[in-house]
Amino acid sequence: MIRVKDLKKSYRDVQALKGVSFRVSPGELFAYLGPNGAGKTTTIRILTGLTRRTAGDAWLAGFHIEREDLRAKREFGLVMQSISLDQELTVSENLDIHGRLFDMSPSERREKIDKLLAYVDLIDRKDSLVKQLSGGMKRRLMIARALLHSPRILFMDEPTIGLDPEIRRKIWALVKKIQHTGTTILLTTHYIEEAEFLADRVAFLDRGKIVVINTPQNLMEQIGAWAIDRMEGCEMETIYFKTREEASAFSAQQDESYTLRRVNLEDSFLKLTGKKV
Ligand SMILES: Nc1ncnc2c1ncn2[C@@H]1O[C@H](COP(=O)(O)OP(=O)(O)OP(=O)(O)O)[C@@H](O)[C@H]1O
Ligand SMILES: [Mg+2]
Repeated sequence: MIRVKDLKKSYRDVQALKGVSFRVSPGELFAYLGPNGAGKTTTIRILTGLTRRTAGDAWLAGFHIEREDLRAKREFGLVMQSISLDQELTVSENLDIHGRLFDMSPSERREKIDKLLAYVDLIDRKDSLVKQLSGGMKRRLMIARALLHSPRILFMDEPTIGLDPEIRRKIWALVKKIQHTGTTILLTTHYIEEAEFLADRVAFLDRGKIVVINTPQNLMEQIGAWAIDRMEGCEMETIYFKTREEASAFSAQQDESYTLRRVNLEDSFLKLTGKKV
């Protein structure tokens, strides 16, 4: 559904993408994970036609992003990193404008807007001004807007940034629900547990290059199942174990304080890049 081949992007002196390739299958939820400046937003901006590639190719539902850009543009919805709504208009007016841009008829717009507002749990705020909504509500409205023209692909750039953990979980449930309707989703995130919880596959991006692509499960299994964090002088050290028994045997020999826990995706990322996301 999404195919990216050796994509490169340079801004004057910065090489933001140094040859990125991946494919996302129909209905898959693909998480693009990486530290600040890794090139996550740049990738989404290129795929959605907001900026031009320097080299390489990409296709959305088989349509080339530049040679067939008008067809490619109908295939996706986009939820951007920053809030991009008209604050002075109501919830339904914001959606209506978007529907017009996609040439939807008035009756089609009315029907779809009500359906989507119910879907994202905002139907009772239909006539509220956007500026009166909370951050989580605005985010859900942006998701509804991205889905209005029934795209087969949904791009979400940091969909839960700045939201508190409870609201974040609400958005996660919504993202899962969207995936279950068959939509292909590419999301970027800083929150490693978000990728761990949601993604079928994860790509780790670091300084414009993909370090690894795999399922969260495989990535975690590669380093072990259990981890012990302990202080080694002033440094925190983490040791990985295949089984709980091995970890327990090791911890029995410790006289300093330590923590025994399950391996998580952050461990894999640290091991692969030497960095925290
Ligand atoms: N318009 C621009 N002009 C010049 N450099 C840019 C521009 N946009 C991005 N960059 C640079 O490209 C690199 C990748 O940026 P990008 O925004 O894609 O990263 P990101 O992974 O989305 O980071 P974040 O997690 O902070 O959102 C960075 O070094 C950034 O400074
Ligand atoms: Mg970004």
